[in-house]
Order: sequence, then C-alpha cells, then structure tokens
Amino acid sequence: MQIAWIICFMAAAQAADYTGPLRPQVHFSPPVNFMNDPNGLFYDDRSGTYHMYYQYNPSEPVAGNQHWGHATSPDLYHWTNQPIAISPSESDQYIFSGSAVVDADNTSGFFPDQEDGVVAIYTVDSPDKETQHIAYSRDGGYTFTKYAENPVIDSTSKDFRDPQVTWHQGTQRWVMAIAYAADRVIGFYISSNLKEWEHASNFTQAGLPGVEFECPNLVEFPVDPVLAHEGRKHVLFISVNPGAPLGGSGTFYVVGDFNGTHFESETPDATLYDFARDNYAAQWFSGIPAGQPPVSIGWASNWDYTEEVPTGETEGWRSAATLPRTHTLGQVDGSWVVTHSPADALAPVKGAQLGSWDLQPGKNGMTVDFSHVSSKAVYLAVEIRGINSLSPAGEVAFKISSSTSGESLDGGLRLEENRFWISRAGTHLFTSQDNGNFTSEFRAEVSAEKSSFSFSAVVDRSVFEVFLADGSRSGTMSFFPTSPLDILDVSAGGLEAGSRVSVDVWGLRGVWE
Ligand SMILES: *[C@@H]1O[C@H](CO)[C@@H](O)[C@H](O)[C@H]1NC(C)=O
Ligand SMILES: *[C@@H]1O[C@H](CO)[C@@H](O)[C@H](O)[C@H]1NC(C)=O
Ligand SMILES: *[C@@H]1O[C@H](CO)[C@@H](O)[C@H](O)[C@H]1NC(C)=O
Ligand SMILES: *[C@@H]1O[C@H](CO)[C@@H](O)[C@H](O)[C@H]1NC(C)=O
Repeated sequence: MQIAWIICFMAAAQAADYTGPLRPQVHFSPPVNFMNDPNGLFYDDRSGTYHMYYQYNPSEPVAGNQHWGHATSPDLYHWTNQPIAISPSESDQYIFSGSAVVDADNTSGFFPDQEDGVVAIYTVDSPDKETQHIAYSRDGGYTFTKYAENPVIDSTSKDFRDPQVTWHQGTQRWVMAIAYAADRVIGFYISSNLKEWEHASNFTQAGLPGVEFECPNLVEFPVDPVLAHEGRKHVLFISVNPGAPLGGSGTFYVVGDFNGTHFESETPDATLYDFARDNYAAQWFSGIPAGQPPVSIGWASNWDYTEEVPTGETEGWRSAATLPRTHTLGQVDGSWVVTHSPADALAPVKGAQLGSWDLQPGKNGMTVDFSHVSSKAVYLAVEIRGINSLSPAGEVAFKISSSTSGESLDGGLRLEENRFWISRAGTHLFTSQDNGNFTSEFRAEVSAEKSSFSFSAVVDRSVFEVFLADGSRSGTMSFFPTSPLDILDVSAGGLEAGSRVSVDVWGLRGVWE
C-alpha cells in the first residue's frame, strides 16, 4: 500500500507537458496550474542541490488553494518537479509564502543525528488571521513534518505574513523579517531555536510606495571596503501590491546596516528592483557558501493580470519564475545599486553561438533567423563603443519577431535621451485591450557618461529579461505572441563616426527536453 501511494505521488509530480509554444524553455514554470511567489529557496551544500518551493494552486490555473510546490536542481536551470512539499491541514487554511534554512547545528532540536535537517518557516492563512508556522524535514527537504506546537508566532491580524529567516553571524541567532502588510511595516524577530521568537524591532520609512508590503528579504552583501565599514551592507527588499510605481505588484529596496536587531536605512528613497512590470516577490537562497554572491529567483508576473494571461486556457499553466540571478551591491553615481546577472552566466543552458556581428556606420544592421533553435530561446549581448559622451547621438535597436505572423518584441537605446526602452506592443495574443493594466512599454534612464554601453537579454517564448550597463538595471517582461518569435534584428542609426556596435547571439538549450 505504501508503494502504491508513492507511485501515485510520483506520477502526479511528473504529469507535465512543457511543449506548448508559450512554455518557457530555460525558465522554471509549474507542471500544471498556477504558480506565484518562490518560497523556501535553499542550497543543500552536501548534495549540491538547489531547492525551490513556490506558491502553488495544484487544482486550477488561477490563485487560490495555496500549497508549497517543489522542484530541485543541480545547477539552478535544470529543474525536476517534486511532489507537493507542504499542504494545508484544514480545508479553510492555506500555506502562504515563507522561507527555509538548513539547521546544521540542530538549534531546533529536531535533528538528533544529522547535520542536514531543513526547517521551513511559513504563513498559515486562516479565515480570521495569519500566523507563522514551522515544519521540519529529515530527508533533505523532500517531505516535512509540521511542528506539534504551531503556530510559533500567533496573531490577531489578517495581514501578517511572508517570514524570511536568515542566520545572523554576529549575534549567533536566527533573524526573521516579516511583513505587517497593511501597516506597511517590516518586523524583525529573533530566535535561538526557530521555535521561540521574540519581536526585536520594526522598520518603515516615509515615502515608500505601495498599499501593502509583502515578501521582505534581508540580504547581507559584501561590498568594496572603501564604501563601507567592515566591507558589508544589508539590503532590505520589499515587494508591494497593489500600488507599485509601475502599477500593480512590484519590488523595491533600501540599503543600510543591520546589527542583529535593528535595520537602519541610509537611502532616503526606495530604488526600484526592475524597470518593467513582471518581477515580484524575489527570494534569496539561504545556504549559499560563504564567498559566493547572493542568488535569487523572482516571480515573472504581476497581480494585475496574472490570472488572465492566455497560457491558462491554451496550455493549462500560468506564471514562470525569473532566471536565477546572482547579485552584487556597489555604487553608481554615488547611489547604492544592486546588480543582476543570470546565474553562472547561463553556462548550463548556453548552446551554439549563432553569430557575431560588428556594426558600424555604413553597415548598420544584422539579422539572424533562429527558427532552427528548438527551444526558440536565445541570448544576445550588445556592446556599443566609441560613444561621444559629451553629446551622445543615435540609436541602437533590436527587434525579435515571428516569421509567421510578423509580431515582435522590440527595444533599444536612444543615446541622446539617455533612455533604454522595451515594448511588447507588437505581440497580439494578450494586449492592453484585454487588460488595461497590461501596459506595453517600459523605460529606464541610463547614464551615457561613459564611452561604452552594453546590454544583454534572454528571450524565452513568453518571458523576456534584459540587463543594462553591467546589470545595474534589469527589465523583466512577460509577453504573449500568437506564433513563436524566431528572428532577431539589431540595427544602429545616427551613431558618431568611429563608433562600433558588437552583437553576439547564442541559442539556448531547453531544460525540459
Ligand atoms: C539535537 O537536539 C536534540 C534535542 O535537543 C538532542 O536530543 C540531540 O542529541 C541533538 N543532536 C545533536 C547531534 O546535537
Ligand atoms: C510593530 O509594528 C506592528 C504593525 O504596525 C505593530 O502592531 C506593533 O505594535 C509594532 N511593535 C512595536 C514594538 O512597536
Ligand atoms: C542595534 O541598533 C539599535 C538601534 O540603533 C540599538 O538600540 C541597539 O543597541 C543596537 N544593538 C547592538 C548590539 O549594537
Ligand atoms: C488596473 O489596476 C488597478 C489597480 O491595481 C485596478 O483598480 C483596475 O481595476 C485595473 N484595471 C484593469 C483593466 O484590470
């Protein structure tokens, strides 16, 4: 009987069709039905496995009936779907967002004879309140047992959620960041054993955007010692919904110091995490070995339209995760900036180079047909050199189009306006006619005070991500064409004599084949 049960569960975990024309091939998306926030991201150093849980409705392609779905990967790109990890105990409760840590020192006492025990910390949403619970796993994060004395933090509020737990080296304690969502406050709690939590402080700041705060992440970054005492800073990422600066849901951050109990911001204004609309609730992995850069994954959608996008009807699933990203913290023009790059520079999925082009006045464009790349996912890297930084001029634009329907995504840099833009207006399966909040164009101000500017982008069937100026800005945009995009053009016009544009393009290998 036990064997039959296991087989049935494994079959459920594997029943997935990743062949639909809108299914991302190098991004994670759920086997079927609806996904939102990444949860419980942790790296198991012993087995070399990344674990990703996520907000999952296993029964319908819209939000509701929230569980923790689960997938594992050796490299952050090739994911294996696993059985659901945490399910509600009562029919009127849901398992909302949270985090997971490896309790190598058995601080919780749940792990008598092992150093790879995992504790998940999450919100249980009940009809009258949201409370914080824990569950422990003795098999490395595949199955969990709920703690008998839950909740570990009780409340009387319906807006108290999304605990993110990290280990604070200085005080040798666990620290939880959590959202008092409707009050627009982030609370910090401390614990020595993950079971008993003490409120340590509250953080908020005048001028922060958003109607409700969600999914806080407190992340320590190593920085150039010239910029900060002891060469480290803390960044507090806060996701807000609704009321993000670009509409609906979105994420911003503030930079400062955390001393074990209190976060002190030194940035007067919030910095936007992404300049487009589809990057929410990013979570940072716990357990990344010391000396390696922080790694995150976000949710590549927006609450304004996520339940209406066409993949639900045509392919039975909705929402993808962003690419796994590594980050650094540095300064640009005297302001703190978190940079983004695809983890491991896409190495696990990078396929054959499709070409390398050198554009210059007189030879202004290139075209590459990538219809033979079975994933229909490509990576492009563009570098503009020889910019006259005193009076920058001209434009470098890209267009990714469909040979069948002529639909396209486009974008580029207008040098005299110091502006980068991306647009999904040319894709037609879902548009601002279908949902007025599915706005089509996004812009980023960029500094052209240097003589060169670079950007790189991944286009993956229905998800587009672009990284500008060494990753100091990222733009994440979902899009829905009626037929696959399979041609890339890059053109340059009006550039300074003597300037050069290099374009390099690679096919990406699908991870679901
Ligand atoms: C883990 O904690 C439990 C409860 O305190 C204890 O019984 C057990 O000996 C501990 N195991 C180790 C390896 O420390
Ligand atoms: C922290 O903020 C929450 C939400 O506004 C509030 O209910 C709580 O009383 C605050 N705690 C302290 C100690 O100020
Ligand atoms: C942390 O900062 C708070 C607020 O400034 C202060 O009250 C507290 O004493 C500090 N704790 C330590 C360990 O320095
Ligand atoms: C757009 O978003 C706003 C705020 O989130 C909402 O009030 C409005 O109904 C939305 N409009 C559409 C067409 O979905």
